[in-house]
Amino acid sequence: MAALYDKFAPFYDLEYDHKDDDLDFYLDLAQETGSPVLEIGAGTGRITIPLAEEGHTVWGVDNSSQMLDRCAGYISQIPKKIAKNINLVQTDMRDFFLDKKFPLCIIPFRAFLHNLTLKDQISTLNCINRHLLPGGILALDLFVPLYQVLSNREWKDEIQEDELAYEKSGVSILCRIKHDPVKQLLNIFNTYKQKNAKDKTLKMVYRYIFRYEMELLLKLTGFQLEYLYGDFQKQHYDYYSGLSIFIARKINE
Ligand SMILES: C[S@@+](CC[C@H](N)C(=O)[O-])C[C@H]1O[C@@H](n2cnc3c(N)ncnc32)[C@H](O)[C@@H]1O
Repeated sequence: MAALYDKFAPFYDLEYDHKDDDLDFYLDLAQETGSPVLEIGAGTGRITIPLAEEGHTVWGVDNSSQMLDRCAGYISQIPKKIAKNINLVQTDMRDFFLDKKFPLCIIPFRAFLHNLTLKDQISTLNCINRHLLPGGILALDLFVPLYQVLSNREWKDEIQEDELAYEKSGVSILCRIKHDPVKQLLNIFNTYKQKNAKDKTLKMVYRYIFRYEMELLLKLTGFQLEYLYGDFQKQHYDYYSGLSIFIARKINE
């Protein structure tokens, strides 16, 4: 079955290759905990490859073959002695088994919000918990669901060509967001307007999570919250920063 990101894969790096605000945060964390690192939603390797370049062994889990193919393409361009430390696994974050335990699991760039039900959220966290060593760390970042935004049922956003990662791509993006407050879902319809090809509209869904909801989820699945940050410079969470970054420790059985 096709995964959510399969169709986004051709556009993903154009949209996000220049995103690096979170990179040092995750690299520093891996430096503190040591390897191997389990990365959930590894995608095209934006964080995976720098982790390996810093000397870490990484297991990158993702359910999209198209995202992982791109990641493998980038890995083939780095020195073999670094590339051999990256293991890509095409599997679902809600239910996977790697015969391995990790001191650190990261879920960068709000990939956890692709769990659209409480059952999925809990399954993912339980599954990660089983893959952590006693006292292992889980780190994930989410966007903050801001009330002033959520008071709307529908809104639009535009990303111009010069805001994208590569110059002169001939692409701009129109994002239409339909908010489902009952299910806490943001249904996002991205229209990729392309100069040299037909426009393409793709649908993405996030289930947004409030601060104490995430704290409860962590508690329910055997984690103890250690830090809650509001940005990648480790400022305290203050709601208006737009980010909530959770660092939690596996509670030993
Ligand atoms: C926002 S992207 C993040 C990619 C990369 N970590 C980054 O920061 O650029 C989310 C990733 O999560 C993956 N993903 C979504 N749902 C998933 C699931 N149920 N199981 C595994 N991976 C999933 C997507 O395929 C996608 O690559």
